[in-house]
Amino acid sequence: MTLLITGGAGFIGSNFVLDWLAQSDEPVVNLDALTYAGNLQNLASLQGDARHVFVQGDIGDRALLDRLFAQHRPRAVLHFAAESHVDRSIHGPGAFIKTNVEGTFTLLEASRAHWNALADEDKAAFRFHHVSTDEVYGSLAPDAPAFTETHPYEPNSPYSASKAASDHLVRAWHHTYGLPVLTTNCSNNYGPYHFPEKLIPLMIVNALAGKPLPIYGDGLQVRDWLYVGDHCSAIRAVLARGRVGEVYNIGGWNEMPNRDIVHRVCALLDELRPSGEGPYTRLITFVKDRPGHDRRYAIDAGKIERELGWRPAETFETGIRKTVQWYLDHADWVANVQSGGYRDWLATNYSSR
Ligand code: NAD
Ligand code: DAU
Repeated sequence: MTLLITGGAGFIGSNFVLDWLAQSDEPVVNLDALTYAGNLQNLASLQGDARHVFVQGDIGDRALLDRLFAQHRPRAVLHFAAESHVDRSIHGPGAFIKTNVEGTFTLLEASRAHWNALADEDKAAFRFHHVSTDEVYGSLAPDAPAFTETHPYEPNSPYSASKAASDHLVRAWHHTYGLPVLTTNCSNNYGPYHFPEKLIPLMIVNALAGKPLPIYGDGLQVRDWLYVGDHCSAIRAVLARGRVGEVYNIGGWNEMPNRDIVHRVCALLDELRPSGEGPYTRLITFVKDRPGHDRRYAIDAGKIERELGWRPAETFETGIRKTVQWYLDHADWVANVQSGGYRDWLATNYSSR
């Protein structure tokens, strides 16, 4: 029994690999291209652990996929690999189409070839679990009900459009070929190993460096926030007990405007690492908005709770405290990811705002 995980050196994927191997002896083959977002340091604690086989490679490489399927014969694929940052998709959408659409297509085809050749019992047990996002549903009016699994797809950014396309491919591979797929659409994650291009880690590392905290537009955009460990437990539940062909929304029942998130992060830093120059909120700077910025996301996570008994274990209060503390305790990790490429990205995204 083996899992093939794609993108397991990224933020959520690495949390999932660590979490999985903390609870199970089932080995993991971790296929990751190690783009700017992939970081083997996240998995340093698994060095020498025979249950973790890391393979650097691209999900678009069919020959490599065929070799991995033949060699390891995974009973499931957990597909995390993606280009994941909305702002980067605005500056350069091509990589998003390549990995999220074409890469998912190639992975589906390789999975289908593997699955087709399995004996009946293994065929029935095989799963292709596609990790997707709430952004495919588009933007909600302030008083509209939260996204359910039947909400129409209305993606608004190149990132969300590419993820929506991948969701549709996964659905079609089930309906047309019978591939036993599961899809989960999750809201904004936060927690350890989150690359500091995204809101929460960017605010923590900028505040600690005494740099501006850039809030896009009026900062009243609303997101639902989920601690990454809860996302991992939800994926485990869906993989184990989810109904084949079904979609499950995953969320934290925790809608918050960006401004409130930034204030909460500042308040925790004031408590845990006071700056001496006054409250961190003094660094907040309102900057030019993200083009096409979705105003509100909200997840109705009722189906996964009713069918699989999953609910998040962390509240935002407990999760964000753990997260801020993790960044304070891992200054070396932060320093390592703030490489030349990271600095180039900050200049690209923020210098003209
Ligand atoms: P991330 O950007 O931190 O990590 C992505 C990983 O995929 C990296 O390790 C990268 O090296 C790898 N990768 C990229 N292109 C690849 C390719 N062509 N072949 C192999 N590996 C490749 O992303 P994340 O935040 O961990 O997100 C993981 C998944 O979860 C994505 O599919 C994303 O759409 C989805 N998701 C993310 C969030 C969130 O809040 N971060 C929420 C919901 C869903
Ligand atoms: O909803 C799930 C999605 O959440 C995932 O699918 C994506 O992979 C993930 O990146 C995340 O997308 P967002 O665009 O919501 O995350 P981000 O952290 O980039 O931004 C969160 C909010 O904060 C958003 O409204 C934009 C705003 N923001 C972001 C940055 C980086 C700022 O105001 N300032 C910033 O500097």
